[in-house]
Amino acid sequence: MIPVQIAAHGRERSLAETDLPLCLESFFGGSPGASWEVEIGFGKGKYLLEQARNRPQVGFLGIEVASKYYRHVRDRAGELENVVLLRGEALYLLASVLPPSFASVVHVYFPDPWPKARHHCRRLFDPESVDLILRLLRPAGRLLFATDFLDYGDRVERLLREHSGLQVARADDFWGARPRTHYEDKYHREGRPILRIEARLARSSDLIHPRAGLGVVAGVARPTDDETEIR
Ligand SMILES: C[S@@+](CC[C@H](N)C(=O)[O-])C[C@H]1O[C@@H](n2cnc3c(N)ncnc32)[C@H](O)[C@@H]1O
Repeated sequence: MIPVQIAAHGRERSLAETDLPLCLESFFGGSPGASWEVEIGFGKGKYLLEQARNRPQVGFLGIEVASKYYRHVRDRAGELENVVLLRGEALYLLASVLPPSFASVVHVYFPDPWPKARHHCRRLFDPESVDLILRLLRPAGRLLFATDFLDYGDRVERLLREHSGLQVARADDFWGARPRTHYEDKYHREGRPILRIEARLARSSDLIHPRAGLGVVAGVARPTDDETEIR
């Protein structure tokens, strides 16, 4: 057994080693070439579910490590054909379960900041893990990131700006008319400063962060153009 749960259309599915990497098209009503967006750490799922309801033509893949949030969102996603949920540790799922180059947008909103120095290794973004996150993106795909933990946000911005394959900009409010996440809503009402970053992947890029070790090289090798379709 692999330490992952998966739900589609609100129902639990089974996942075997032989099903990997995940074939997303098999979950989303036969829409070849459908656009996919991924939210890492969806929490109570406010953003994911509202977006999926508003944009039924787009597939939404949510990743969450906490069982109680996974179940909460699974039980509310039943009527939505375009939602797939994975419960598990995000970096494990990115490295071992998901195919490369399928997402047009990856959303990471208010990830746990792990403020103590001895816990920094648990952060989602560091020179090695950032490549696993970027690996999900199609050419010209976007990573949208927000945090109220400004020191962490500054580090993430620096990390992304060091990457030769990205165009990086701070965003004042990329939500626009879109729903806010649970935490965005709360912090917005409290008037807390929020650092938002948008990073766009080049059409063709070297996906190895310059500060990453050799350990990730095999894991993030880019497919050739012919292989960039959703599998
Ligand atoms: C502070 S909450 C933010 C929730 C939501 N994105 C929002 O903005 O309202 C962070 C979420 O990320 C999840 N999370 C933290 N580390 C994770 C990991 N390594 N893999 C998957 N989910 C993770 C937590 O369980 C939690 O639900």
